[in-house]
Amino acid sequence: MCGIVGYIGNKNTQEILLAGLKELEYRGYDSAGIALLDQNKIEVFKALGKLHNLEEKVNTNKEYPLGIGHTRWATHGKPTELNAHPHMGEYSYVVHNGIIENYKELKEELMKVGHKFVSQTDTEVIVHLFEFFYNKTPNSKEAFLNTIKKLEGAYSILLISKVDPDNIFFFKHGSPLIVARGLEKGEVLFSSSDSPLIGLSNEVVYLEDGVGGIANKDGINFFNDNVTWAGLPTSKQFAQKDGFRFFMEKEIYEQSDVVTDSMIGRLGENEISFDEFPASLIDGIEEIKICACGTSFHAGLTASYLFERLARVRCSVEIASEFRYKDPLLNKNTLFIVISQSGETADTLEALKMAKKAGLKTLVVCNVDNSSMTRVADATILTRAGVEKGVASTKAFSTQTVVLWMMGLYFANHKNTITKEKLEEEIKALREVPQALIIQDEMHEKTKRLSKRYLHGHGFFFIGRDVFFPLALEGALKLKEISYLHAEGYPAGEMKHGPIALADPELFTIALMPQNLLYDKIKSNVEELSARDSTICSISPLEFDLSDDFIRTKKTNHYMLEFFEMLVALQLLSMEISVRLGNDVDMPRNLAKSVTVE
Ligand code: AGP
Repeated sequence: MCGIVGYIGNKNTQEILLAGLKELEYRGYDSAGIALLDQNKIEVFKALGKLHNLEEKVNTNKEYPLGIGHTRWATHGKPTELNAHPHMGEYSYVVHNGIIENYKELKEELMKVGHKFVSQTDTEVIVHLFEFFYNKTPNSKEAFLNTIKKLEGAYSILLISKVDPDNIFFFKHGSPLIVARGLEKGEVLFSSSDSPLIGLSNEVVYLEDGVGGIANKDGINFFNDNVTWAGLPTSKQFAQKDGFRFFMEKEIYEQSDVVTDSMIGRLGENEISFDEFPASLIDGIEEIKICACGTSFHAGLTASYLFERLARVRCSVEIASEFRYKDPLLNKNTLFIVISQSGETADTLEALKMAKKAGLKTLVVCNVDNSSMTRVADATILTRAGVEKGVASTKAFSTQTVVLWMMGLYFANHKNTITKEKLEEEIKALREVPQALIIQDEMHEKTKRLSKRYLHGHGFFFIGRDVFFPLALEGALKLKEISYLHAEGYPAGEMKHGPIALADPELFTIALMPQNLLYDKIKSNVEELSARDSTICSISPLEFDLSDDFIRTKKTNHYMLEFFEMLVALQLLSMEISVRLGNDVDMPRNLAKSVTVE
């Protein structure tokens, strides 16, 4: 998830662009850049890392009538200056937010006719496509429209060119883009979200998919006429949260979109592919060992069920801080997978180094490119969740789990441990995950109502079986992290081996009761608890008469779709309880977003 800005007008263009990128830095900060154009004069500035590195490089005092800018969250290509936007052709420049799914074939076609590429990114094909069409027919609007027609995937684009220096060409598809009329005559602004526009405009269009146009000092000419003008929020902080109360809430609601991003270019019609993962890494592998901390550990534990069930490969999961000091037995035929949102967690990083030193093949599933772990592992698979600002991890977990599920199928297909029919059935279910993550108002309202009941008591059990056990662990962690109430995740079948002694009306049990996986087993576990007067909240597609409260999930035909919908219920319930307790949802006490110390 990147941030793009554009400006046309008489103010200081570079100042406007840099201020806008500062507001968008929460969307990504691997690198940033701006391009300034005045007729035949172009100046481009790019820098790695945080925006202040770019600010220090922009040393021009020339006044430019227009320009575009970008702050990057890497999805294709390492964070390097060469990969930083704006991307350049012979005479044109583009910034892009999204993923061009068919960039490889477009790049090959363009290279065959002499186009030279300098970056590893998908974005660069856009500017070369534009020039390919313009060189054939020198009509910039036609060249731009022909370019858009060739693109597949998600793309919000701003393009400028020396051949048409008064215009900014724009198009929105998949990723957000806003166009705004400035407060001064002849001013036009663009942004990925509304916070940079506050104070500079009162009239904006939140572009819909498929809407684009050409903007200049004389106005904004849309290619389509079905646009709706709107106002802007008044506060920037409110805007950065896109109207949500907390970054955590925003990130829970973003899960459907970012999970879609995590599948782009990987989930085909009837096969799974990972460009960034050399198949040689699987050759000779007889075992998988996963190592992580916290929420990432829960994703790893979930994956272990899927790897064994689908790929029939032995899979063990370790907590990194334990693994480091247990003198582990490591076989070279083991693929060592570390999972980390930040890519900086000290224990996980050290565990990775231990495995590498022992000669194991290593892979990191990570959300931050160019982080420490990505520089140590043999291969990196990015989760593409975008910046996660809430300390309590949400969208990182859902994208990690989807990526690991796809990896399980990739391994299964590579090792021929799955039938074609089963693979297609799993791929069909994967395609439905974004829908399962779309939050129904009824679900959110129910968690708000339930939250007032669960503010006391002497603790919570979250129980589940199979992959719903790691989900129960995740639900318990979310509650502990932001409400400070005690909670334990437990395998439902274990309750009678001791914990059930705690059962009484003050013991709140959140029971994950999927219809498609061991329902009768979990049902009898919950009956045992209910018979001992525990207060039960069941989360299930099926009503259960012994539960005191109930969060309904949709009936589906695959347990992993129930998994993701129940995940959202758990995330929302913990957030709403935290709100009622008056806690800081985004920055809970005693915690940090990335634990870079032991
Ligand atoms: C999750 O909500 C917590 N913030 C924490 O457990 C986190 O998952 C853990 O510290 C691991 O972080 P990582 O994924 O960045 O390695």
